[in-house]
Amino acid sequence: VTGKVIAGITMSLDGFVCDQHGSLAKLYSDFDMLQEAPAFQAAIRDTGAVVMGRRAFAMGDPDAYADHYEFQVPIFVLTHAAPTQHPKESSTLTFTFVTAGLEQALTQAKQAAAGKDVQVIGGPDTIRQCLRARLCDELHIDLVPVLLGEGLRLFDGLDPDGVTLERISSAETTPVRTSFVFRVVR
Ligand SMILES: NC(=O)c1ccc[n+]([C@@H]2O[C@H](COP(=O)([O-])OP(=O)(O)OC[C@H]3O[C@@H](n4cnc5c(N)ncnc54)[C@H](OP(=O)(O)O)[C@@H]3O)[C@@H](O)[C@H]2O)c1
Repeated sequence: VTGKVIAGITMSLDGFVCDQHGSLAKLYSDFDMLQEAPAFQAAIRDTGAVVMGRRAFAMGDPDAYADHYEFQVPIFVLTHAAPTQHPKESSTLTFTFVTAGLEQALTQAKQAAAGKDVQVIGGPDTIRQCLRARLCDELHIDLVPVLLGEGLRLFDGLDPDGVTLERISSAETTPVRTSFVFRVVR
């Protein structure tokens, strides 16, 4: 573990990170197999904190993270307004709502991670900000061979000349999932 900031997301072959209704169902049909994958278990072991955007946070039941989320670590949620009801926490999974911007969220997350990696798990708006400001060390794209047709695209609105990536590795993580690891050149 090297205390990296990793932005990671799962993408359809036609470039979407959720369908037109915001659903991830088709992108995670292999979720049970993924949980058994050594790369996934290594990511869980090496992750000391998670950063997510408020819309990604609000996708499911906010009280379900404490018992069901794979990363049982402090979570930092970017928002302009923290929810009035604080979500359920566990002994290791806590929630901090950060209204002072991405850099502040990452500073707090790195501190909480204490030398382990910080995972920025999305959504696309949040990851774009990381790439734009060169605030992540690596971009992890998991490609699955489904077509979604419509939805949110990760790279929409990014200056194509503003992002330079170098491939570090690629791997067949599950029978349907190919995991690309890119270095974000600063
Ligand atoms: N494929 C995958 O692996 C994956 C993973 C995660 C999410 N997703 C998809 O991503 C979608 C959501 O992505 P998204 O791009 O719409 O949103 P997002 O990045 O999850 O969240 C955006 C929200 O975060 C807050 N925020 C972001 N930057 C901020 C800043 N600098 N300062 C303060 N607040 C900030 C704002 O919340 P407020 O509006 O509260 O101010 C903003 O509306 C979901 O539908 C989900 O399906 C996919």
